[in-house]
Amino acid sequence: MGFNFDLSQVDHLLSTTRAVRKRLDLTRPVPRDLILDCIRLATQAPAGQNIQKWRWLVVDDPKMKEGLADIYRKAYQPYIDYQKKMVDKVGRTDASGIMESSDHLANVLQDVPALVIPCGLDRISTDAIPANFAGYYGSLLPAVWSFMLACRSRELGTAYTTLHLNYEKEAAELLGIPDTVTQLALIPVAYYTGDDFKPAKRLPVEKVTYFNGWKNTL
Ligand SMILES: Cc1cc2nc3c(=O)[nH]c(=O)nc-3n(C[C@H](O)[C@H](O)[C@H](O)COP(=O)(O)O)c2cc1C
Repeated sequence: MGFNFDLSQVDHLLSTTRAVRKRLDLTRPVPRDLILDCIRLATQAPAGQNIQKWRWLVVDDPKMKEGLADIYRKAYQPYIDYQKKMVDKVGRTDASGIMESSDHLANVLQDVPALVIPCGLDRISTDAIPANFAGYYGSLLPAVWSFMLACRSRELGTAYTTLHLNYEKEAAELLGIPDTVTQLALIPVAYYTGDDFKPAKRLPVEKVTYFNGWKNTL
């Protein structure tokens, strides 16, 4: 008999790993060992040719975090201004919660105990085709999500963010990242406040799944 997973636990982890912004505990330090545990698990993720061309930059120095937060806000402000304008125009209601939460994260980013920047050890060529992108990012991003799941199972909240990449070079200069390296994301990591998270509303799986041909739903 094979190993039996506790499906209620596994499914709960997979369905409640949310983008945590307002519930990041800014007062409770996160031990480096715990982050290392999560990265250790993340490095079990698949990578094309098992190449493992990742590096994980954990930023917990206050000055460095402040620098990164400033860079993030530089990208965030025009982005959110535009989003808010669009909401005013179109009147989307479910976006306002995300915006409030995103505003909060942008404001407190420097106070989050750790900012993790997963990196790829080379850069995709400027004439890359979709298959190259799939191979490149597909060999790195599964590990990033595994990292976030491992965090969640250890009471650490995370949020996948990419906005600072608009100023990737500035972040690279701040942290001494060589220009041969690609930053993939910036993941704030903190213990979360409150007990639990709920599954989010998503499109019905029957609607987004096709069998044996495009648009053949069940
Ligand atoms: C590729 C990617 C980029 C994202 N960039 C940002 C970001 O820069 N800032 C932010 O606050 N959230 C960012 N998010 C988080 C999404 O807003 C969030 O995952 C989405 O609203 C769904 O919420 P949930 O993860 O709680 O289900 C990003 C998510 C992904 C996958």
